[in-house]
Amino acid sequence: MPVIPVPGRQRTWAALTPATAYVFGVESADDTRVVQHYWGPRLPGAALAEVTAGATAWFVTGFHDPADATELLPVDGGRRWGVPSLQAVYPGGVRSVELSFERAVEHGPGELELVLRDQVHGLRVGLGVRVHDDTDVIERWTEVTNESGEPVHLLRLDSGAWALPEQAGTRYAGVAGAWGRETRLHRGELPVGETTFTSRTGTTSHRANPWIMIGDAGESGGEVWSVALAWSGSWRLTAQRRPEGDVAVTAGFGHDGLTWPLAPGAALRTPPVLGLHTTGGYGAASRAWHAYARGHVLPTPAEERPVLYNSWEATGFDVTEDGQLALARRAAELGVELFVVDDGWFGARTDDTRGLGDWWPNPDRFPQGLGKLFDGVRDLGMRTGLWVEPEMVNPDSDLYREHPDWTLHYPGRRRDTMRNQLVLNFGRDDVRAWALAWLDGLVTEYGLDYLKWDMNRSFSQAGWAEGGDLLWIKHTLGVYAIMDELRARHPGLRIESCSGGGGRADLGILRRTDQVWTSDNTDARDRQAIQEGFSYLYPASAMSCWVTDGPNPVTGREVPLRYRFHVAMAGTLGIGGDLTRWSEAELAEARELVAAYKEVRPVIQHGELRRLTGTPGVTASAVQYTLGDRVVVLAYNPYKLDERPPRRLRLEGLDPDAVYEDGAGARRHGAALMHHGLTPASWAPFGPDYRSEMVVLRRVQDGS
Ligand code: GLA
Repeated sequence: MPVIPVPGRQRTWAALTPATAYVFGVESADDTRVVQHYWGPRLPGAALAEVTAGATAWFVTGFHDPADATELLPVDGGRRWGVPSLQAVYPGGVRSVELSFERAVEHGPGELELVLRDQVHGLRVGLGVRVHDDTDVIERWTEVTNESGEPVHLLRLDSGAWALPEQAGTRYAGVAGAWGRETRLHRGELPVGETTFTSRTGTTSHRANPWIMIGDAGESGGEVWSVALAWSGSWRLTAQRRPEGDVAVTAGFGHDGLTWPLAPGAALRTPPVLGLHTTGGYGAASRAWHAYARGHVLPTPAEERPVLYNSWEATGFDVTEDGQLALARRAAELGVELFVVDDGWFGARTDDTRGLGDWWPNPDRFPQGLGKLFDGVRDLGMRTGLWVEPEMVNPDSDLYREHPDWTLHYPGRRRDTMRNQLVLNFGRDDVRAWALAWLDGLVTEYGLDYLKWDMNRSFSQAGWAEGGDLLWIKHTLGVYAIMDELRARHPGLRIESCSGGGGRADLGILRRTDQVWTSDNTDARDRQAIQEGFSYLYPASAMSCWVTDGPNPVTGREVPLRYRFHVAMAGTLGIGGDLTRWSEAELAEARELVAAYKEVRPVIQHGELRRLTGTPGVTASAVQYTLGDRVVVLAYNPYKLDERPPRRLRLEGLDPDAVYEDGAGARRHGAALMHHGLTPASWAPFGPDYRSEMVVLRRVQDGS
């Protein structure tokens, strides 16, 4: 799909996607402003010239409407009082950024860059817009270059701002949370004022996730406008509902208060900010994001994610060859395909107080290295994976004793630890070179198939003598660079992003990782809510879910094994319990459920997701996955409720005239399944808590 000049209009362009149009241009009377004229359903070519941003500011008093509500990159300068997307301080403390449009540069048919310049201070600003022919996601970015001979300081550099049309309304959806409670869905009325979702932790964070959806829509009907930022460090997204009535969203890397020096000749390019208009409610918005992630983000979208076993909850730091192999044998019997050894295998790391940074096998536990353990795992027919936390160091480690200067720190300030660890500065060349060398060495020596890349604390006292606040950008870019290089050197390597659970889940990290550890909270009931929020933007293949022991180690809740499996089967299935303590009956049930998952895995991991009904984990609920002829429904009924669950579950998105057959051979028309529904056995009004089931249907007769 192209970005085209709009016929009949001066300096106006339309970014066209299969179903939408995004029309923007230089405001004709005043070439200091680039505004968004339209963002919504695709318009016929001839109609593109008919859409304009609407009335511009009028000057009756000194307090007129601000002029920046529809700008692609409102700056701090001139007659603007909204949230600036670009804020700079020029030499002499001059703050007003005054840009004028210079030219449009085509970077191929799908990408256009508008070049603006502050003529007095030599700041070049490029506004990029890119579209693809298989998605309605519009990618935007900004790049600033200091073409003057003097330093400029940036206080804010967002990737871009998006104006919401009035018909979007003021309802929003987003996620927020905390450790063990990530990606909890929040929906509500956007208040008048500025609502900021942000991370100041140096990572995406557990507390919020960089996206927002706005639209007076339901799950399966209505228009939704989404904005998401593809970035894994600190970030800020502000949704402004202005007292004048406009709604706009600006998003970018970094958090409030950071200052980025831009030396003469230096440039800074933002991560992409992505906009998506959809019809069909929040469900359709999620499906469009999943398709985008598969088509343009994930490195291995077509691959089926293996069923993995992870030893963390079973052994904690007590990692030994015999202990791991005992687990591996049980895991292999269950049908597990990838065995991941978690924390505790290296240096002097027998608890969380020491050893981080010393990335060689613990000499007491593994005197001959890890070779025998991983050979054993491979002999059992499984792939091999290892936990690493490259960005961290315990002060009690050889690495820290040798390189205390490698951590984030300010002279004369404390170095506060969290979980007894400090953060290594991945903005530094020497730190990155060190990390790449040992990671590459480990992957090569042991032929590893998988790394679980963890990151277990937020930044504090984040000083860097050479780079200043650029640390907040360069650290993240450094992590990206190491992951990219490792993947380039080891094309078979797969990576899981983890940060104390789901603290680093975003479309930036997913460009170089295959899946995300969704949460350290593996309680099935809690997970349902966490997974619901995760599913708004990210596909099931990226959502790592483990079945762990009962009672749950985090919450103490006892949930039947089948229910735990059915919740974990909604994403990429893993097992994290102490299998040496599972009974024969539990192992047999687990074997059966792993096999059932593998049968339907392509449908769940690569199919279209529909969140059918209910409040996950609270009331009867269900999710549906559809791929080609196959339909998988996971239905849950956590409690005996005051109100009985619905009698029937209506499916969605089927072919109404086609006939579908379930596992028992019963046949029904798509229309009946969609409009009348099926009756999940687990939804019968009386029965024990935590009932669940998987229904598998196949289209056996075409409607046509
Ligand atoms: C973090 C991760 C866990 C586990 C531990 C190991 O908390 O989220 O899954 O790997 O670290 O220390």
